[in-house]
Amino acid sequence: MHSIDFYRTEFISYLEKNAKTREPLNLYKPMSYILGLGGKRLRPVLTLMTTEVFGKDHINAMDAALAIEIFHNFSLVHDDIMDDAPLRRGKPTVHEKWDLNTGILSGDAMLIRAYQLFENYESDTFRELAQLFSKTALEVCEGQQYDIDFETREDVTVPEYLKMIEYKTAVLVAAAMKMGGIIANASSTDQDCIYDFGKNLGLAFQLQDDYLDAFGDPKTFGKQVGGDIIENKKTVLYLAALENGDEEQKNELLDLYSIQPKDPSEKVEAIKEMFHSTGAVKHTKSQIEFYTKKAFGKLNSLDISNEKKELLRGFGESLMQREV
Ligand code: IPE
Ligand code: IPE
Ligand code: MG
Ligand code: MG
Ligand code: MG
Repeated sequence: MHSIDFYRTEFISYLEKNAKTREPLNLYKPMSYILGLGGKRLRPVLTLMTTEVFGKDHINAMDAALAIEIFHNFSLVHDDIMDDAPLRRGKPTVHEKWDLNTGILSGDAMLIRAYQLFENYESDTFRELAQLFSKTALEVCEGQQYDIDFETREDVTVPEYLKMIEYKTAVLVAAAMKMGGIIANASSTDQDCIYDFGKNLGLAFQLQDDYLDAFGDPKTFGKQVGGDIIENKKTVLYLAALENGDEEQKNELLDLYSIQPKDPSEKVEAIKEMFHSTGAVKHTKSQIEFYTKKAFGKLNSLDISNEKKELLRGFGESLMQREV
């Protein structure tokens, strides 16, 4: 086994070799732009690492890891359009730097490129990877649709929210790990187990993303802080504030979430204050820990060495501490 940094470095050099800009430039430049902006490379690292956890060289997983990262970046390009987001990884989003049509079409091309990469696998593996990928990609669309639908609903429940984040975020993390299992021919029990590990880690990851969206440091976060509040997103913070707040706080929050001021800074500050005073921040942090621990619980049934379990656990712990 190697370190997380090793897998990340290996992945980035493979990505760079594969990211040649071609004509028409307005189709391919935004692709290399967004992929070159960096990011944590969490999902491809998980694919490479899981492949080795199950006993095969990570080199075999490079194309699947690249497919996952390209798909993730496609989803971000379209997500930033839908969320009206100005910033991604500290730089202008694709639709801001170019325009809406460029964002739509270069996003489409990225999705197709992602599928194409699975063609590099032998037929049995190809079939399993493509099947998992299609199922996952469709779920991501469903999650994204719920996320948008929830913006204009006032009666979103916690179970509905959890389903939404499972689909928009957690299943891709889960699939990234299961792909490692598929490539390494792990048993189906182990494949299911690593999928559940990834899914719970992915839930914790999205809860943390909701937290950082409101409370991240604007200097390092890379996205517009308060963006979810401006878009009236029904995040875990919002739902917890509604559930735990007293009558007055609830009404104020509902009021604030129904307005779209030109300058949103006062609205954002007032809501962040309420997230603290209602205990929503505390609740969110405990939920992040809950799903991370739930993920760790899944490790027990995996048929791998303790040393490998520790590596996976260490990865999960580091995600809980993240600031970006
Ligand atoms: C952002 O994903 C979208 C979510 C699912 C929260 P990441 O936080 O993994 O984004 P990058 O790739 O590191 O920029
Ligand atoms: C993104 O959720 C999920 C997908 C891109 C599929 P968010 O909208 O919360 O992600 P960020 O915060 O913009 O990265
Ligand atoms: Mg977004
Ligand atoms: Mg979104
Ligand atoms: Mg977010």
